[in-house]
Amino acid sequence: SIAGLREQLAQAAAEAAMNGDAGTIALVPTMGALHAGHVALVERAQELADIVVVSLFVNPLQFGRGEDLDRYPRTLDDDLRVLRDAGVPFLFAPSAAGMYPRGGSETSVTASGVAGTLEGASRPGHFDGVLTVVAKLLNIVQPDTVLFGQKDAQQAFLVGRMIENLDLPVRQEIVETVRDRDGLALSSRNRFLGAEERQAALAIPAMLAAAETSAGEGVAAVRAAAEAVAAGEPLLELDYFTVVDPDTFAPVAEDHAGEAQVLIAARVGTTRLIDNGRLRIG
Ligand code: PAJ
Repeated sequence: SIAGLREQLAQAAAEAAMNGDAGTIALVPTMGALHAGHVALVERAQELADIVVVSLFVNPLQFGRGEDLDRYPRTLDDDLRVLRDAGVPFLFAPSAAGMYPRGGSETSVTASGVAGTLEGASRPGHFDGVLTVVAKLLNIVQPDTVLFGQKDAQQAFLVGRMIENLDLPVRQEIVETVRDRDGLALSSRNRFLGAEERQAALAIPAMLAAAETSAGEGVAAVRAAAEAVAAGEPLLELDYFTVVDPDTFAPVAEDHAGEAQVLIAARVGTTRLIDNGRLRIG
């Protein structure tokens, strides 16, 4: 429960104070089905704070109608093992009724601009759901630092903007994407891929590699190289490939030179995957 967690955190803070520690808190929000990407966030959290809290909540607010809320993997026993092995002292895993006792939220965080593009265009209302639950989690845990993965670049960007726009008293830390040996970014949804689909999904990191190789030749060349890779994989249905300015998440001009972020969303079978990478154009 929220009250139970707050009580335990107050106790942990008091114990830390007795030991002369600052009792700083880091929060790692997750939806469970934990993998090495989540563990990388936990390990960074352990470096940054005395007390690490992981939250595990499959947030209904951020799933649209017809999305995979019902089939989202729920693997609590495995997750507990992962967290125990990683030495995480606090797991906050509320029920839906615990988070939304009135069935939903009458009050929510709404983001405009970037929140309606890319993932937000494919998934209307998704980021309002994410930001609302993250705001709740920040208020419940009151961490000094909150950690997010670069894998979900737009999410990390929008949370950063929320923290800035609403003057939330927390520092955001972003952790690099953890990949499997074959280059596929780890994701809770990878488990849905059959062997053939998994092979096809490797076109996504291959697109990032092709983009990087062509970076010296400009935006159009980057796009052409990546899209050629996608076109060569019949099982992959590209949703978007976009080059944005990492500071604004706005698409870059065709003559852009300098730092850029390429963002990919694609469907393999019924599984939707996203990935991204940084490059220097020109
Ligand atoms: P979830 O998909 O479980 O991801 C939790 C955190 O792990 C996010 O910050 C995500 O970016 C990070 N992550 C996932 N895969 C990663 C990888 N391969 N490498 C590094 N980090 C990775 O994102 C959510 O949950 C939810 O939207 C949430 C923020 C918890 C709000 O409900």
